[in-house]
Amino acid sequence: MKLRFVRRSTAGVRAVPLAVGAVPPKPELAVVAGFTGRRGQVSEVVTRKRRLLLLGMGEAPHGNADWEAAGAVAVARLQTLEHIAIDARERTVDAAVALAAGACLRGWRFDRLRTRPDPDRARLAAIDVLTDDPVAATAAWAAVHAAVRGALFARDLVAEPGNILTPQGFAARLARLETAGVSVEILDAAQLQREGLRALLAVGGASVNPPCLAVLRWRGTIDAPPVAFVGKGITFDTGGVSIKPAAGMWQMHGDMAGAAACAGAMLALALRRSPAPAVAVLALAENMLGASSYRPGDVLRTYEGTTVEITDTDAEGRLALADALAWTAANLRPQAMVDLATLTGAVIVALGGVMAGLFAKDAALDGVLAAHVAAAGAAVGEPVWRLPIGDSMPDALLSDIADVRQCSLAPQVPDAMHAAAFLRRFVGDTPWVHLDIAGAEIREEATDRHALGPTGFGVRLLDRLMAQRFEDPHR
Ligand code: BES
Ligand code: MN
Ligand code: ZN
Repeated sequence: MKLRFVRRSTAGVRAVPLAVGAVPPKPELAVVAGFTGRRGQVSEVVTRKRRLLLLGMGEAPHGNADWEAAGAVAVARLQTLEHIAIDARERTVDAAVALAAGACLRGWRFDRLRTRPDPDRARLAAIDVLTDDPVAATAAWAAVHAAVRGALFARDLVAEPGNILTPQGFAARLARLETAGVSVEILDAAQLQREGLRALLAVGGASVNPPCLAVLRWRGTIDAPPVAFVGKGITFDTGGVSIKPAAGMWQMHGDMAGAAACAGAMLALALRRSPAPAVAVLALAENMLGASSYRPGDVLRTYEGTTVEITDTDAEGRLALADALAWTAANLRPQAMVDLATLTGAVIVALGGVMAGLFAKDAALDGVLAAHVAAAGAAVGEPVWRLPIGDSMPDALLSDIADVRQCSLAPQVPDAMHAAAFLRRFVGDTPWVHLDIAGAEIREEATDRHALGPTGFGVRLLDRLMAQRFEDPHR
């Protein structure tokens, strides 16, 4: 999709955001259409020269979220056209840019695997954002566009099916990051063996597509330890020997959304030349079942050294992450770690898929990091909600024959907190936040506001976190 900031446009259709009481372009037509400017209202009027889509903005004033929403609605309603304009004249540069971001995010679609046009006939190819100051808007757009492109990159990865986006397929896609200036290193299964990431190897052990660890580095210009993003990258989760029910299993090709978000965030940082050093470590594996599967009752020795008694091979994410987190802490010595993972169905039950669950240690620095992560998420429309890990958790994970048990046997249904408690054992003293993004990574239906399918959740949050917390060299 091509998007430009311009003073004039030849597009025959124009979306015009209007607050209550504002005078629309053709007042008499707006009255006939019943348009009042009520928040979320959409009315169409046709003049002799063009078609106008009037977007109700409510009482004003508006934050970026409202402008993004308006941009999204414009695209949702007009996506069967090739060329549209969105009117941001007499608006601030920030508002124009937010309209553009909302439009681009809502306009995303994944058509690469179609051989004929999609049934919605979506063909929007060019958007003109009308503004009084195209130069300033274009300049301000650069940084926001970087984050948007990162999010769309992540969505593309999550959309790709498991037979195409294998661990190796995922690694191949990371070439896009190298073009942008991110260094990409892939530790293959033989290297994982040598390094001792046996938990990750066990999770991926039953697949013909072997697991690997992708290490992405953005150097930045500030001389400080990097911030690390650690992602769960299960490119397909059958559950393994503890196999999942057939219904809905197909969706588990998206079980690499955490890793995709980390990769997308790295792309965003590189595209806007962030001064802050960052690394991303992606644990890529297929959780399959076969003759070489790991099994319930097995005991694995993790990279960090702790032995784990397996109780459910479908709790594979915490194993892959345990090795990735411990490896990252030991080898990259980051000043902070944030992991993103579609870790538990329970967090969907708790937060309804509209927020991610945030978990952190009780230490002071971890609390500060948690607050910054939550603030960043709120600012970009990727909300998170802090959940407790709890003190009873270490005991619940004691095993009769190994150092720890993979899952607690105590709760009736699997929960998100024991998963977080398990991860906590592997991060040492490094300040750490865990985001359980299950449910937030995908939308089951399209709305005016949101596109159907992968959301790219976490990309803009991480990008904002870096901007507000780690880019001031004097902090
Ligand atoms: N990838 C799933 C969690 C998930 C479920 C993500 C639905 C997105 C949508 C994870 O690997 C899993 O299977 N979790 C189990 C853990 C249980 C076996 C302890 C769960 O949450 O049921
Ligand atoms: Mn699973
Ligand atoms: Zn999983």
